[in-house]
This record gives sequence, C-alpha cells and structure tokens, in this order.
Amino acid sequence: MSQAPGEGHEALPLLPIVQPTLPDWETLAADFKAIAADPKITVGKYVRLLEAEVERRLDVRHAIAVSSCTSGLMLAVRALGVTGEAILPPFTWSSTGLCLLWAGVEPVFADIEPGRYTLDPASFERAITPRTTAVLPVTIFGVPPDLDAIEDIARRRGLTVIYDTAQGLGSTWRGRPLGGFGHVEVFSMSPTKVATSVEGGLLTTNDDALASKLRRMRDYGKADDGDIDLLGLSARQSELHGAVGLRTVQALDAAIDARARLVARYYEGLSDLPGVAFQTVPKDTTTTWNYVTLFLAGDDLGKDGKPDPVRAGAVTSRVHDALEAVKIQTKRYFYRPLHQQTVYAAFAERARGTVPVAELASARGLALPLYSHMADSDVDRVIDAVRTAWAQERSR
Ligand SMILES: Cc1ncc(COP(=O)(O)O)c(C=O)c1O
Repeated sequence: MSQAPGEGHEALPLLPIVQPTLPDWETLAADFKAIAADPKITVGKYVRLLEAEVERRLDVRHAIAVSSCTSGLMLAVRALGVTGEAILPPFTWSSTGLCLLWAGVEPVFADIEPGRYTLDPASFERAITPRTTAVLPVTIFGVPPDLDAIEDIARRRGLTVIYDTAQGLGSTWRGRPLGGFGHVEVFSMSPTKVATSVEGGLLTTNDDALASKLRRMRDYGKADDGDIDLLGLSARQSELHGAVGLRTVQALDAAIDARARLVARYYEGLSDLPGVAFQTVPKDTTTTWNYVTLFLAGDDLGKDGKPDPVRAGAVTSRVHDALEAVKIQTKRYFYRPLHQQTVYAAFAERARGTVPVAELASARGLALPLYSHMADSDVDRVIDAVRTAWAQERSR
C-alpha cells in the first residue's frame, strides 16, 4: 500500500528554510555587559565597530548602520533626490519598490536575465524615458547583476544608481567586494541574512558628502545645532544590534564557506533531475549563497506551446506542499513579482508583457532550507524529499 503524503513523518522535526547562526553566548554576554555599563546604548561604540569592520572588509570609505535595509533604501532615495521614474526588476523583495512609493517615485519594471536572474541591462536601457532619474539593480540570492553593463548605461544616461545589495554582504564582482559600486549600496542584516544584526541594514558609499547626509538622515535629519534641516527617519541601530552584527560579520567568511559546501552537496544530489535548474553564478562573481533556489520546469506549457507562469506556479506550489507534508519548509521566492503585488496595482498595466523572464522565474523558483550551521544529514533529507516530490510531479 502506498503511503499518504506526510505519513510516517510525524516523528521528524520541522526543517525550517532559514535559521540564523548567532555568535556564541559567552561572546555576546561580554558584549552586552559592556553595553549595559555605557550610557550610550544606540549608535555608540559597537555600531561604530561594525561600520569600521564593514568599511575594511568591503574596501569602502563609509558604512552607515541603520535599522533595516528598507529604511536604508528609503533614506538613499531621498538623499539622492530621486524623482519621476526609477527602474527596477520585479523579481526582488518588495522593499526595492516600496522605497520608491514612499518618495512618490514611479516604479518602472525592467526584465531580468535568464539563469542569473538579475537585472537585464538591455531591458533596463529600453525602459529609460525622459522622466527616469535612477536605477535600482538587485543582488539576487547573493549573485551580483552585470555591474559593468549597468554602470555604463547609467553613466551614459546620467542616472543615479542605488544597489539593493540586501543579500550580498560578502559577494564579489571581478575580485572586488560589493559595497563600493554606484552612488550607494544598501545591505540587509535581517534574521534571514548570512550576517545578521537580528534586525538591521547598512548603507555603503565612497561619497563623503552623501555619507554625512545619510548619517544625519538616519537620525531624523538632525543638524549639529539640533535643527531638523533634512527629511530623515528614526532609523538608528542600537548597540545590542550592532554587537550581534559585528560578531556575525567577523564570522562571515566561515559562514559563506560552510554554505558553499552545503550548496555543493545540493548540486550533487539534485542537478541530474530533468527540468530542475539552479541559479547560474557567473565566473566573474562570487556569491554569499544567501539562498539556494531551484527553478522547476514541469508540465507548464500553455496553449501557445510556451511556458505559462500560471501553470508553472501550480507545479511549484505542488512541490512546495509535498515538501511541507514531510515537514520541510520551502519558499516560493521571489513570489509574487512586484508588479503583481497589490501595493503596485497602479503600475501593473505598464508592466504588462514587458517582464516575461521575471514572471516565469517567480513562478518556478523554490528556495530550499539553507543555513550556515546546517547538518549534512539535513541536506540529504531535503535532497531525498525533493527527488521523491519531483518524481511524483512528473508522473502526474
Ligand atoms: C532584495 C532585498 N531587498 C530588501 C530586503 C529588505 O531587507 P530588510 O528586512 O532588512 O528591510 C530584503 C530582505 O529580505 C531583500 O532580500
């Protein structure tokens, strides 16, 4: 008799999709004790140590710690005076577009490159209009976009470049760490990132004037004399968050190495499956392996003989559910694409038919459990379950 989905798995623990790897408690206890003994418990010694460590690692003049990547993006858009229209990929986390909506800037969606899933430079250039003032390229799962091509277009067309590098702290492009590209880069240190402040973000730039503006804007927009002369936010980082961030950044190389090894195991266990693809990591880049995402090409052809995102999404959902039934958490990611989220409804019509690669990637993408201290046996458990789920899906 065949087993019903999930049967026999009651005893297995839930395998979460992400788990933060936190510093050991003795280190944190000493840090927290030092913080408690100092009256300055926000934007003090530890936040500055975190910023200095990031500046050194990323070889960038300024790192500014903030409360989240989203607040960092909002500050960047304001500080750089972005108006009119800004171009971004829809295959990203919503924050890349939310920061534009907060500033009254129209998000204009450009497509992504197949395989790599980052902003397609040709599509970006086609989307430029006389109202365009900025572009927000995104590092996807740790893989940087084609920086050369994007910066060349931006320079020629006089556009501001704000990189959403939320998932790219530790990624490199042609041997250089991300962090010093464009006008500003914005990183996340939320709990799902390889290095985390529990919650937090970082702005990085080589522009001295922009850096001092951003430092004031994270603190309401306060001038030295106490006047508020800039439109800022309350987006500081506390010392407790700074301490956790500092320790996880110090452990970043080991975390990335551990993830690379785990991902290699996933490749070995799954790359022979027909219709299952991993993200391409171009030779001139390295990734943080923030996520390992499968792209599932199953029975998804539409009447026109081309892959249909609605059918593709149904395939991915069934695999997601089959894994959930055996207590393995996965995430359709990034789903939904931004132009299909309600908050962007006013801009959906303009996006129609212009972002087919992003729509299909969003329908097919399924992120698997991955964390820096994950056991090989847990990776093997996921591999076995994916193989079973995929075999079931193909025999439907
Ligand atoms: C691409 C991207 N941008 C922005 C964010 C938002 O980061 P935060 O939660 O720190 O605001 C994330 C978080 O997952 C992300 O993946």
